Amino acid sequence: MKNISIKKVAIVLGIMLILIQLYHPTPNDGNALGGNDITNTLPISDDVMMILKTSCFDCHSNHTDYPWYSKIQPIGIWLANHIDEGKRELNFSEFNSYKNKRKKHKFEEIAKEIKEHEMPLNSYTFIHKNALLSNEQTLLLMSWADNAFLSIHLDSITHH
Ligand code: HEC
Repeated sequence: MKNISIKKVAIVLGIMLILIQLYHPTPNDGNALGGNDITNTLPISDDVMMILKTSCFDCHSNHTDYPWYSKIQPIGIWLANHIDEGKRELNFSEFNSYKNKRKKHKFEEIAKEIKEHEMPLNSYTFIHKNALLSNEQTLLLMSWADNAFLSIHLDSITHH
């Protein structure tokens, strides 16, 4: 009896796994650098841009370079959730549409997350080794974020 029920459970799980393959989350395949992207807020050096593209854009822009296994469910669904959540918190492709207060807050958060090694997510760098930030890249990105914060801050003071 016991064996039969385990078999049944396995069959049901198997069928579910097959059926779930029919579901495809909407791909994040827009334009990363459109009219509202962060380069419209302030100029960005090639070095910083390279880091953002390699380590952040897959979850924080309107364009993700998907790995092949994103076609397999539920992995694809799991990735889509990260991307949705990441974009909701911080979207470099929409950055310039944020109010100054939000821009400043995001630059503070960027410096903080990077300093604490919270970003990029571990589950991402586990596979995307090239997205791991070196100490040099961490320093560069942190000072960029600090400067960007200050430049928006000063701008909003002098223009009022
Ligand atoms: C694999 C996807 C992924 C990558 C890559 C990634 N992030 Fe995130 N990021 C997220 C998710 C999901 C959240 C929201 C949940 C959380 O805070 O853990 C988030 C949150 C954040 C926040 C918090 C925003 C706020 O206001 O609280 C910041 C800042 C951030 N990420 C910056 C970065 C930077 C900078 C990089 C690149 C160095 C990066 N992230 C790379 C997925 C990612």
